[in-house]
Amino acid sequence: MTPAVHADTEETRYGSFMDWKLFVRFLSYAKPYRGWIVTALALLPVSALVQIAQPMLIKRAVDNHLTTGNMEGFSVLLSAFILLVGVQFFIGYLQSISNTVLGQRVVRDIRKHLFSHLMTLDAGYFNHHASGRLTNRITNDTEAVSQMVSSGLVSLVGDFLLLLGIGISMAWLAPSLSLVTLLAMPVIVAGTVMITRKLRTIQRRGRLLQAQMAGKMTEEVEGARILRLFRLQDNRRQRFNKVNQEHFDTVLASNYLEAMQFSFIDAASTITMALLFWYGAGLVESSEVTIGTIVAFVDYIRRIFFPIRDLSGKFTTMQAAMTALERIFNLLDTPPAIRDQPSNQPLPTFRGEIQFLDCDFGYGDGLVLKNIHLTIAPGEKVAIVGPTGSGKTSLVKLINRIHEPLRGEVKIDGLPVSHYPLRTLRRMVGMVQQETLLFAGTIAQNISLNDSAITLEKIHAAAVESGAIGFIERLERGMDTVLSERGGNLSAGERQLLGITRMFAFNPAILVMDEATSSVDTISERIIRTALKRLMEQRTALIIAHRLSTVQNVDRILVLVKGCIVEAGTHDQLLKYNGVYAQLYQLQFQGEGGD
Ligand SMILES: Nc1ncnc2c1ncn2[C@@H]1O[C@H](COP(=O)(O)OP(=O)(O)O)[C@@H](O)[C@H]1O
Ligand SMILES: [Mg+2]
Repeated sequence: MTPAVHADTEETRYGSFMDWKLFVRFLSYAKPYRGWIVTALALLPVSALVQIAQPMLIKRAVDNHLTTGNMEGFSVLLSAFILLVGVQFFIGYLQSISNTVLGQRVVRDIRKHLFSHLMTLDAGYFNHHASGRLTNRITNDTEAVSQMVSSGLVSLVGDFLLLLGIGISMAWLAPSLSLVTLLAMPVIVAGTVMITRKLRTIQRRGRLLQAQMAGKMTEEVEGARILRLFRLQDNRRQRFNKVNQEHFDTVLASNYLEAMQFSFIDAASTITMALLFWYGAGLVESSEVTIGTIVAFVDYIRRIFFPIRDLSGKFTTMQAAMTALERIFNLLDTPPAIRDQPSNQPLPTFRGEIQFLDCDFGYGDGLVLKNIHLTIAPGEKVAIVGPTGSGKTSLVKLINRIHEPLRGEVKIDGLPVSHYPLRTLRRMVGMVQQETLLFAGTIAQNISLNDSAITLEKIHAAAVESGAIGFIERLERGMDTVLSERGGNLSAGERQLLGITRMFAFNPAILVMDEATSSVDTISERIIRTALKRLMEQRTALIIAHRLSTVQNVDRILVLVKGCIVEAGTHDQLLKYNGVYAQLYQLQFQGEGGD
C-alpha cells in the first residue's frame, strides 16, 4: 500500500500531453464558462494577425520609402505600425486575463466537486489513503490543471496559429526564400526539444533530491538525541553527504544544459539569418525579392524562435495536467463503499435494540473482531472492557456504520444498519468519544451542530441537563462565546461536557461512550460521570471504560480479548467466574487502592 511516496508528491510519470478522454471530461467543467473560452479563442487569430502584419508594414516602409527616399505616406505607415503594437499589447493583456479567469473558475469548480466527494467517502477509504496525498489532489493537482488552461492549452493553440501564419506569409512574400529558411526548422526544433527534455528530467531529479535532503534534515534534527545515544552520527553524515553531493552535481548539470539551450537557440537563429542573407543577397541582385522582404524575413524569424523555445515547456505543462486530471477523476470515480440504500425509509423513532450477528471485522489483513454474536436489549446498559487494542472501539464503530463488518450483519431494531439512511443512523446512535470534536464557532453552534431543529431553548435545556451550563454562564459571552478551532480555549473536561450536551440536545436512542472520561482530570471526571449517568437513562448504552470501577453497576459486562468476547455477565457473576475480568479487576483494585 506504499508506492514510492515521491511519485505522488513530486511530478509523476511522463504521460502523453493530450488524452482526449480526460480532456473531454475536463471540458464538461469548462462548459459553464463558454463565454470566456470563446473570448480566449477569438483573441488568438487576432493576436496572430497583428503580429504577422508588423513585418509586412516594415517591408513596405523599406521598399516604398526608406530605399527610395520618397517619404510621402510614410507617417501613415508609421502610425499604423504604432497602432498595431498598441493593439498587440492590449490583446496580450486581455488574453492573460481571460485565461487566468477561465483557469481559476474551472479549478474552483473541480475543487468544490472533489471536496464534496471526499466528504461522502467512508472512514475505510481514508484509512487506506494518506491524507497528504488527498490534500495534494485538491491543491497541487488542481493547480496543474489551472496551469494547463492559463499557460498551456490556449497559448499552444496560439503558437501554432502564429507559426502557421508566419509560414504562410513568408511563402507568400518569397517562396524560395522561405524554403531555405524553413529547411533549418526541423533541426532547430528537434535540437531544442531534445535539450529541454533532458533539462526537465534533470530538474525533476534535482527537486527530488532537494526534498530528500529536507526530509533527512528533519529526521536528523528530530532524532538527534537518539542518534547520539547510538553513536550513529558518522553513518548518517555519510548518507547525507552523498545526497548533498548528488544534488550539487544535478544542479550543475541543469545549469549547464540551460546555458546550452539558450546558446543553441541563439546560434540556430544566427545561422538561419546567415542562410537568409546569403541566399537572399543573390535573389535581391536578380531582383527576385526586395530588400524590404529580407528585412521582413529577419523579423519573422525572430518571432518564430520565441514560441519554439517555449514549446516543450508547454508540452510539459500539458503532461502534468493530464496526469493530474487522471488522478483527480480517479478519485472522483471512487464510489463510497458505504452508501445509502435507495429504499431507505426514515424511521420515526428507534427502540434501541442492537444485534451483532456473527460479525467478523478487520482493517486490512487479519481480523480485529472475530465472530461477534450479541444482542443488546432496548434500554440495556452494557460495558465493554478489555486490553488496549482488543477491538472495543472497532466494535462500536460497526453500529453506526463508520465501518462495515467483513462477515455477518449488525441490526438495529431488527433491521440491518444499512437499511437506515446514514444521517438518521448517525443521529440515533450518539457517540461520546475520548475527545469531543469541536469546530471554530460559538458554543451554541457547537452544541446544535448548526441543525435548525435544535432551537436555542433546546440548547439551553441540554446544557442544564449536562451541567455544562455552569461553566458556560461563567464565560463572558455565554453561549455566544466563540471557540477556537478544536476548542483550544476550553479545558478537556469542558470540551467533554459540550460533547455530552450535544447528546442531550440530539437525544439519540443509543448512546456509545468510548473512554469518555479517560482524558480529563479527576474533578471534571466526577462532573462528567454524573452527566453521563443522567444521559444514559432511558436509552440503550454501551460504555467502553478503562477503569473497571466505573462500570460495576451496568446490566452486563463484556470482556473483549483479541477481538473475541471471552466473558459476559454482571460484575458479581464475573468476579465469581474468576476469569480474565476477575484478574483485571484485582490488578486495578490493587493499583488504585480501591478508588
Ligand atoms: N483505523 C485503523 N486502521 C487499521 N488498524 C486499526 C485501525 N483502528 C484500529 N486498528 C487496529 O485494530 C485493533 C483494535 O483496535 P481498537 O478497536 O481501537 O481497540 P481498542 O479500542 O480496544 O483499544 C488494534 O490492533 C488496532 O491497531
Ligand atoms: Mg479504543
